[in-house]
Amino acid sequence: MGFPIHRMRRLRRTDQIRKMVRQTTLNLSDLVMPLFVLHGRGIHRPIVPMPGQSHFSVDTIVDECLELESLGIPAILLFGLPEHKDSQGSRAWADDGIVQRAVRAIKEKCKKLIVITDVCLCEYTDHGHCGLITEIAGRRDVDNDATLELLGKIAVSHAKAGADIVSPSDMMDGRVGVIRKSLDEAGYSYVAILSYAAKFASGFYGPFRKAAESPPKFGDRESYQLDYHNADEALREIQLDIEEGADIVMVKPALSYLDIVYRARQRFDVPIACYNVSGEYAMLKAAAQNGWLNERQTATEALIGMKRAGADIIITYFAKDVAEWLRQDEQYHSDCEQSIG
Ligand code: PBG
Repeated sequence: MGFPIHRMRRLRRTDQIRKMVRQTTLNLSDLVMPLFVLHGRGIHRPIVPMPGQSHFSVDTIVDECLELESLGIPAILLFGLPEHKDSQGSRAWADDGIVQRAVRAIKEKCKKLIVITDVCLCEYTDHGHCGLITEIAGRRDVDNDATLELLGKIAVSHAKAGADIVSPSDMMDGRVGVIRKSLDEAGYSYVAILSYAAKFASGFYGPFRKAAESPPKFGDRESYQLDYHNADEALREIQLDIEEGADIVMVKPALSYLDIVYRARQRFDVPIACYNVSGEYAMLKAAAQNGWLNERQTATEALIGMKRAGADIIITYFAKDVAEWLRQDEQYHSDCEQSIG
C-alpha cells in the first residue's frame, strides 16, 4: 500500500491551520534590547558595524527607553563607555559613572522597564581586559581573585543606582558568589543576577568591541572565556553559576551554540537566556542591506531557533525591529477586519 498522500501536509495547508498547530512563538515579553550609553548631551550616533544601533548620551537614552517601553519591550541591557579609562577600570564602580547616571535617569522616567546592567571591566580598563592584569607563571594574565572584589563593587553601585538585574560578563571564576554576597551585604538581596554563564571566546563579538571600544590591547580573552570546542565544560560553568546563586543563566553567543542552550534546558530548571550577539546581528543586517537576505524572515527564523532550542529569554539587537514588525502585523490585521466589517 502506498503512503497516504497529504499525510504531513494536511496541517500545513492554510495559514490558519499552521498557526493553530504552531509550537513556538516569539513574544516581545521574552526579549531584551542592549543599549550603549556615553558622555555628552544630545548624542544619538549610529554605530557603523551594527546598522540600526546607536550610541546614546544619558538624555537621549531616556527617550529611547520611553519608546522601547511604549513598544512593549520589557527590558534593556546597558553598556557604558566611560570618559576615561585606567588600569583598574575605576570608572566602572563610580557612583557618578556613566551607567550609574543612565540607570538613575531611566528609572526615573520608565516605570515598567526592567533595567539590566552589564558588570565587567573591559570597557573601563586601558588594557581592555575584563579584569586586573598580573603576571602568572611569567605571562601577563588576568588576576582572577583580585578582580572579584571589583566586580562586587560594580554590581553594588549599579544596584544602588536602581538596576533590577546585574549581569556579569567577565568570566572570572567565583564571581557570581562574590557578587551575590556583596549585593546581600549592601542591602540589595532583591536584585537578581543574570550571569553570562557559558560565554565563549568568540569572533562574533567583533562589532560590539568596536562599539564599546573594548578590544584587548594585548593578547585575547581565551584564558577566561570558554573554548568553543567544548560543550561539557559549558554545562559545568552553568552549574557552578547556579550553585553560586545565579537567578538566570546565559549562553553566549546564540546561533553557533544552540546545542548548549538545548542541553542546559534539559538539565537545569532555572530560566535560560541566550545572547544573539553583535556579529550575528551584523551579518544578517549586512546581507539584508545588500538585498541578499530578507531581514524580517531570517531574523525571525534565527530567533525562533533560539526559542525552539529552549531559551526563555533572548538578548537581541533585533528587539526593537521585532516590536515594530509585530505592530505592523497588528495594524494589518485590524485593517483587514475593518475592510471585512
Ligand atoms: C564584555 C562583553 C562583550 C559582549 C558583551 N559583554 C564582549 C567581549 O567579551 O569581548 C559582546 C556582546 C556582543 O557581541 O553583542 N565582556
